Amino acid sequence: MYVCLCHGVTDRDIREAAENGASSVRQLGKELGVGTQCGRCASMARSILKEARSSD
Ligand code: FES
Repeated sequence: MYVCLCHGVTDRDIREAAENGASSVRQLGKELGVGTQCGRCASMARSILKEARSSD
């Protein structure tokens, strides 16, 4: 599922980034561009990140 349409980032990309140590939406923005354009994906990205980090 696409989370960030501006940068074509999927929930899988976010989970992967979380596994590789990304711990904030800001960091996701640096790595994937999430939330750096229109910002609409930020809250969705945050909840996926939170979920990913709590499931390991
Ligand atoms: Fe992610 Fe626009 S959808 S910055």
